Amino acid sequence: MMTQDKKAVSCCEHKVRFWERLTPRAVDVVCGLSIVSQQRQKIVPHAFGDVVEFGFGSGLNLPHYDQSKVRSLIGVNPQDGLPRLGRRAIAAQDLSVDLLVESAEALSLETGCADSVVVTYSLCSIPDVEAALLEARRILRPHGKLFFCEHGLSPKPFVAHMQHRLTPPWRWMASGCHLNRDVGALVRSAGFCLDQYDCYDLGFGSRILGTHHLGIASKI
Ligand SMILES: C[S@@+](CC[C@H](N)C(=O)[O-])C[C@H]1O[C@@H](n2cnc3c(N)ncnc32)[C@H](O)[C@@H]1O
Repeated sequence: MMTQDKKAVSCCEHKVRFWERLTPRAVDVVCGLSIVSQQRQKIVPHAFGDVVEFGFGSGLNLPHYDQSKVRSLIGVNPQDGLPRLGRRAIAAQDLSVDLLVESAEALSLETGCADSVVVTYSLCSIPDVEAALLEARRILRPHGKLFFCEHGLSPKPFVAHMQHRLTPPWRWMASGCHLNRDVGALVRSAGFCLDQYDCYDLGFGSRILGTHHLGIASKI
């Protein structure tokens, strides 16, 4: 009986380890699609000065930074398998990056330490997105900017309805990702004004996942 129990536990551990390794790779592949890269390219090169990136993941934004404008870069990500790929991406390029293995909702960074906060395809999966945006505001200097490129809630009522219905199973399947976050509204309610904001359909695949929210926001 004991041996059978041990076998069951070890099989379960094996499965957990399998998913821990597979999920970051799947995220890396999907977020690395060229149509997704084209959206990052609209936002990330604007980051300047001391930059903090929330949800650094596997470092897919690294090639998009304008190195002549960036003084320092800190990538924030909790320990979920992605920092392993992130470290590999950092080692493979020139920009010096510090990886901070923390959650964006409660950062150890000092108030007013950043000129830019960059967040791409992560506001959908950060559990307490309101707290993370308040942290972004706290660490930004008075002239600082928030740069975001996210998928989120559609302005089309039927699509939005489907996004609300599908979010619970999707969250379960896709590491906590929400389909229905109204990114522009969340950014505004965290005390930012939107200097630039665009909400559009990617025109690729479904609007349920393809509705994009891109923008640059300043502290009010
Ligand atoms: C879909 S991936 C996007 C990764 C990357 N930003 C990109 O554009 O490819 C979402 C990322 O958010 C990260 N994340 C989830 N919860 C977080 C939190 N509380 N704080 C910071 N990052 C978080 C995940 O670990 C993951 O790296």
